[in-house]
Amino acid sequence: MRGGLPGLIVLLLALAGAGAIHMNAPPPAPWSDDELKAIQSLSLSALPPLPSDPSNAVANNPVAQRFGHRLFFDARLSANGAVSCATCHQPSMRFADDLPRAVGLAIGTFNSMSLVGTAYSPWYFWNGRQDSLWAQATSPLESAIEQGVSRAQAARLIAGDPTYLAAYQALFGPLPPLPGEAPETGQEEAAVTEAFVNIAKAIAAYERLLLPGETRFDRYAASLGQDEASAPDAQLSHPETEGLRLFIGKAQCINCHNGPLFTNHEFHNTGVLPAIGALPDKGRAEGVRLILKDSFNCFSAHSDDPDKNCLELRFMRTGDDLVAAQKTPSLRNLKGTAPYMHAGQIDTLAEALAHYNRARDAIVGHNEAKPLGLLPYELKRLEAFLSTLDGPLATAPEWLAPP
Ligand code: HEC
Ligand code: HEC
Repeated sequence: MRGGLPGLIVLLLALAGAGAIHMNAPPPAPWSDDELKAIQSLSLSALPPLPSDPSNAVANNPVAQRFGHRLFFDARLSANGAVSCATCHQPSMRFADDLPRAVGLAIGTFNSMSLVGTAYSPWYFWNGRQDSLWAQATSPLESAIEQGVSRAQAARLIAGDPTYLAAYQALFGPLPPLPGEAPETGQEEAAVTEAFVNIAKAIAAYERLLLPGETRFDRYAASLGQDEASAPDAQLSHPETEGLRLFIGKAQCINCHNGPLFTNHEFHNTGVLPAIGALPDKGRAEGVRLILKDSFNCFSAHSDDPDKNCLELRFMRTGDDLVAAQKTPSLRNLKGTAPYMHAGQIDTLAEALAHYNRARDAIVGHNEAKPLGLLPYELKRLEAFLSTLDGPLATAPEWLAPP
């Protein structure tokens, strides 16, 4: 005997089952006005035009951009002829690399930082010890563990390469007479430093071209205000939208990773442990001390800005909470750039999220992040959201390969 009562029960169970499936995946809850505002504030459409850099007279000069492009990829600017900026800042890895700690002439202490969108930042390096892109570029060139060239060697390379010399002279006038191997006089030394700074200013002009492009998240944000059905690739999946909801809400990521670059350009202690075998880094507390005595800082005679207002530097935040604080990195294009954090201490995004969820006490200073109490499925959603921030650069392809 088939059918009858048992059949009806099976039918009812099946209907209930179907209902249960529906209840597991409700349509996404509508965004509140505050949430919509937060989402729009993260969208690339909220990114203002790149601010001018009055400290660098050639910051937007096309000749400087091309010259800087060549210099960026030129390994002759290193003691062993094998290291260029692009060794650690690779175009295919959002201008970072995939090592825990950078390797130039020797193994360094820090994780290479992404250069995409960094021209928006008032501070450079994890501890912000320099305050312009050109001032920053002087450091790796001279650093004994990165490129290790002297100022005179860098200037000699320009003098000996007709293409470089022509570009240099078009931008900055004649190259000063270069000292031989004999000890330099004070005057010669100053002239060589000026030439070296000019080289760095051309590199900075190139770096200003490295800007983030639209991602799935940005297309989603743009589609929110529109009535018609949005393009299919402007849709985020259920876990992705719920991850976004956590990012701007319960998980508090937006407190520091805010604005269209997902960084407040500030410094925070988030309790990241030192790399194994390394001493804890003093972070911004040290950066504040170093920037004030940096001979290329905003107040210096090498700045092309006649006004030298230097408001950022004059009013920079100081204080005890900056001990072990690092610069908040952008969260755009995290894919393929693991490991993460200032010394590459964390291998995967899942581990980075677990780190925030626990928010253990910092071993130096005070961890500003609070334990989140998120459940495993919520952490997965956050991770799914972060993947919607991967996308191409908004930079013409010619700049993304060696010249
Ligand atoms: C050996 C690897 C290596 C080389 C070579 C190198 N860098 Fe870096 N770069 C790093 C590391 C590591 C950091 C972070 C170091 C720190 O905070 O102390 C960094 C930081 C930066 C930053 C700061 C970004 C930010 O958002 O604060 C910029 C800009 C930069 N590098 C540009 C350059 C340029 C330009 C060159 C070539 C002149 C160059 N780098 C050469 C590894 C390298
Ligand atoms: C109190 C400010 C603050 C909060 C809140 C915060 N972050 Fe961070 N984030 C930082 C700083 C600072 C770093 C760099 C720390 C370091 O290297 O020691 C960082 C690093 C990261 C990194 C590594 C990126 C890289 O390129 O190395 C990821 C991923 C990240 N945060 C995601 C998140 C997520 C997701 C949340 C929310 C759960 C969050 N952050 C909350 C400030 C913050």
